[in-house]
Amino acid sequence: MLARATLFEVIAYVRERMGGSDPTIELEVLDPDRGRGRYPGELVEHAGLSYVHRPYRVWVDLAERLGLRMLTPRAATGPLIRLRFERLDPGARLGGSAADVTEKYGATSEFARISKLEDPGFVIDVAEALERIALRPGARILDLGVNTGDEIALMMALVPALADATFVGIDHSASALAVARARFGASVTLHEADLNTLSSLGLGRFDLVFSIGTLQSPGIDDRDLLRRVVQDYLTPTGAVILGFPNCRYIDGEIEHGTRMKNFRQPELGLLIKDVAFYRKYLQQHHRQVFVTGDNYLLVTAVPAT
Ligand SMILES: C[S@@+](CC[C@H](N)C(=O)[O-])C[C@H]1O[C@@H](n2cnc3c(N)ncnc32)[C@H](O)[C@@H]1O
Repeated sequence: MLARATLFEVIAYVRERMGGSDPTIELEVLDPDRGRGRYPGELVEHAGLSYVHRPYRVWVDLAERLGLRMLTPRAATGPLIRLRFERLDPGARLGGSAADVTEKYGATSEFARISKLEDPGFVIDVAEALERIALRPGARILDLGVNTGDEIALMMALVPALADATFVGIDHSASALAVARARFGASVTLHEADLNTLSSLGLGRFDLVFSIGTLQSPGIDDRDLLRRVVQDYLTPTGAVILGFPNCRYIDGEIEHGTRMKNFRQPELGLLIKDVAFYRKYLQQHHRQVFVTGDNYLLVTAVPAT
């Protein structure tokens, strides 16, 4: 039945099964390989019968939206395969629980389990943003909220010309910075400091200010920090890459789309409002601004030509 059902019939069926006690929810559907080149919902004929084609992307998205994990499909009879899903544990949502606010994202926090370098969209979008900036040899780069230095490692890997760049990272997590120090040695300057008191550090100016997942942190005035970045820490031709989470993490899975409290599905109002502010502010300060990204929205500002 499900091999010919509409998607909303499939969703209703899965929701009904989610209310039951079976740990695994199974569906027999057309093997997506049989419909290669067709769009979701187009029909595929097999032995005189029509089947609805849906690529794996549809099933992965469905699982994500319903709070399920998609398991490896099994072979079934004829042109069908058996899809299998299990419920995610809602209690396994990643969240900061450290009593000390500076260690919420520390080396032993839940957050330390996440590697953005395993997110294809993030890696590809950062690479494109860096291409737009085309940093000069010997560039000075500042990373606000550097944590263990994943983004610096990514920049070094993506842009070999940055071998002689100066990297400076700021964070208030002592344990995350200890990991970064072990990783980079003296090649990266790291300051354990509050981003609200940057002026005491005498940092100088930078060709690129990079900050991922940090401006919207509690205790940071994002508008004021952006103003200080532009006015006090950028060279006249300096560029900015800012990243904002548009996802959450639960039970080993990433769920796309930021959520307001008590919203089960994505609600992007606040994210869009913030990004619109950053974009407009940077444009007003003579930058051409690009907004790209997926699980992380990237605001890239380069000098206007
Ligand atoms: C969500 S994490 C992002 C870390 C890293 N940029 C990444 O994307 O993997 C935010 C980082 O900002 C740091 N942070 C938050 N508020 C801060 C503050 N007021 N001063 C210094 N660091 C802060 C946290 O310790 C944490 O490392």
